[in-house]
Amino acid sequence: MALETTTLFDEADALSRQIEASPVGNAAELEAFRIRFLGTKGLLKQLFGRMGEVPGDRKREFGQRVNAVKELAETRFNDAKTALEAATAKAGPDFDLSLPPLPSVLGSRHPINLVRQKIVDTFARIGYAVAEGPEVEDDWHNFTAMGTPEDHPARDMQDTFYIAGHANLLLRTHTSPVQARVMESQKPPIRIIVPGRTYRNETISARAHCVFHQVEGLYVDENVSFADLKQTLLYFAQVMFGEKTQIRLRPSYFPFTEPSAEMDVTCLICHGQGCPVCKNSGWVEILGCGMVDPQVFENCGIDAERYTGFAFGMGIERIAMLTYGVDDIRLFTENDLRFLEQFRAEV
Ligand code: DAH
Repeated sequence: MALETTTLFDEADALSRQIEASPVGNAAELEAFRIRFLGTKGLLKQLFGRMGEVPGDRKREFGQRVNAVKELAETRFNDAKTALEAATAKAGPDFDLSLPPLPSVLGSRHPINLVRQKIVDTFARIGYAVAEGPEVEDDWHNFTAMGTPEDHPARDMQDTFYIAGHANLLLRTHTSPVQARVMESQKPPIRIIVPGRTYRNETISARAHCVFHQVEGLYVDENVSFADLKQTLLYFAQVMFGEKTQIRLRPSYFPFTEPSAEMDVTCLICHGQGCPVCKNSGWVEILGCGMVDPQVFENCGIDAERYTGFAFGMGIERIAMLTYGVDDIRLFTENDLRFLEQFRAEV
């Protein structure tokens, strides 16, 4: 027993020497030191745990000895910790403020958004204000007010998404109903440009989608003529597609305009030379337009004797496809970054 006790006191001495010899020069060494000597399963705990082996008359002395060793470890640990913290503080934060930042990856704007914005900006310059309307529209504004008779094929269930359980509600098939909404609530002069999302029950293909975008325009005042329409559209085409762009108007039919026309511009790809995009004609169709039908004015509470006006509407996807040479409309909604990343610049 006497021999064992001596060994335990010797072990305490040996532990002191180890404590003094162990390195504590950096954070990792300091942590290793703490775990080895002061941790819950550390050497000091283990030595205390052997108190049972010490004869009763020497327990007190052994306890004091081990406590002294523990204090030695704690002091060494605390001193080293303080020194390390001081050294770190002196060195400043562990990052270099003079380093250049990592390049940040900027997102790109969606091509539909770019084209939409350019159209809106072009008309804003000549006094058109942006108007918006609901995408869930009623039958009156989408069809009846816009001169589409009850039996018109455009009302067919094949083309229009109706809201289940609401015979009167549908997803607007064009942005033209916003014309009616604005005329119901405002007095002329009216000059609005209406960008928005539209829906048609189409089979999705490279050329057609069931969700797409249009921009509608409406100008109502006294003495508005077809010549004003033509000049406005020429201005638009030349700002939008370049100064040399020519336009041509072909007679057409829309239920809400009389007379009606479709406008072609010189091909955006070949500028009139002839290419696959314009099917070698040199022209591409861009929009529908015409003089507001007096019946539409009546439907919306505008005095058709006093006022005249013109309207036009165009598909944004179509213009984006012609501008950028995109041959599949589905690319606009597939969110393929390889496609989207190409549209960083202005139109
Ligand atoms: N709403 C027509 C469509 O979706 C486009 C249109 C044609 C709008 C002629 C007009 C217009 O305002 O005058 O095809």
